[in-house]
Amino acid sequence: MTFAWSTYIIFFVVFNIVACVWLLWWTAQRKKGDTLDKQTTGHVWDGDLTEYNNPLPRWWINLFYITIIFGIGYLIWYPGLGTFKGESNWTSRGQHDIEKKAADEKLAKSFAKFHNQPIDVIAQDAKALTTGRRIFINNCAMCHGSDARGARGFPNLTNSDWQWSNSPDDILATIRDGRQAAMPALAGPMESEAGISQVVVYVQSLSGMQVDPSLAADGKKRFDGICAACHGADGKGNQALGAPNLTDDVWLYGNEFETMKQTVREGRNGQMPAHGAILSDTQIRLVGAYVWSLSHGKNEKTE
Ligand code: HEC
Ligand code: HEC
Repeated sequence: MTFAWSTYIIFFVVFNIVACVWLLWWTAQRKKGDTLDKQTTGHVWDGDLTEYNNPLPRWWINLFYITIIFGIGYLIWYPGLGTFKGESNWTSRGQHDIEKKAADEKLAKSFAKFHNQPIDVIAQDAKALTTGRRIFINNCAMCHGSDARGARGFPNLTNSDWQWSNSPDDILATIRDGRQAAMPALAGPMESEAGISQVVVYVQSLSGMQVDPSLAADGKKRFDGICAACHGADGKGNQALGAPNLTDDVWLYGNEFETMKQTVREGRNGQMPAHGAILSDTQIRLVGAYVWSLSHGKNEKTE
């Protein structure tokens, strides 16, 4: 918040408090010549019922003064006056950190027996999977889908096709440290749109699609020269680089002709964000166990 905004807010807060005090004080005054219980509002009901026009009772007004004093105390103790941090130094972030730490410790305690255990071992425990699923829904489902089947650009985690390896340790590393895929833009090395088309036709042939054999033969030369470095001579990919297997029927971005041409022309940089700073070690292991279970026949269906 800039100094000007801060001053503006402080001015309005203070102005409002002063205005409240003044209003209370002013309405509590008796005007000259007022005599107690004599003045009425002038309304008459049922012929003889009239209404006194008296100031509020003292105790009632004092209650208002007490709320104002409470408000001032609150503004001294908590942040509220522009950029003034308050004597307690309270912040919502700090409060969140304290509560998160307590929740993390509680979780770590209830799953203490899984401390540093591999996720395939943890995955044998039904309670761990239920908690892992909950963590997944809260942290991963927005990208991978609540059924973990993914969407275009977001991998399906329930099948046996893995871009970055599914060894228990590698899944943990994926979740904790994230992954950055780097498929470079290769329009240059493919020389022309025709060159891109040839190599794409060849890639389509790898997964068994019917293609023009002569185009594919030209594409294979290009593939062997450039693509094989990452995707392997047989096109089966390289999990160390996150280069996907191009010979199966699982596609992250799609195997339509135009989609693949775009992949080759512009490259792809899928990013799995690191969760090490967001989730505790216990949470990462539990969600990892849940993910592992999805492709290992332990998929528990609670909902
Ligand atoms: C902001 C979106 C996003 C969120 C949130 C996210 N992921 Fe991912 N995740 C991705 C993308 C994109 C990839 C693919 C990266 C690539 O192209 O290599 C990925 C890849 C993965 C992989 C590797 C799959 C493979 O085939 O090797 C795993 C495992 C994974 N995510 C698990 C998780 C878990 C568990 C969570 C929650 C703790 C999570 N992800 C949260 C976007 C996300
Ligand atoms: C430097 C390594 C590298 C090279 C060279 C490379 N790729 Fe890739 N490729 C990758 C990576 C990594 C991905 C995953 C991108 C992602 O997840 O965002 C990928 C993804 C793809 C995909 C998307 C697959 C899907 O599931 O949707 C296709 C198609 C592809 N590459 C084809 C090619 C072709 C054809 C060539 C040669 C012209 C090539 N690649 C060269 C690393 C490479």
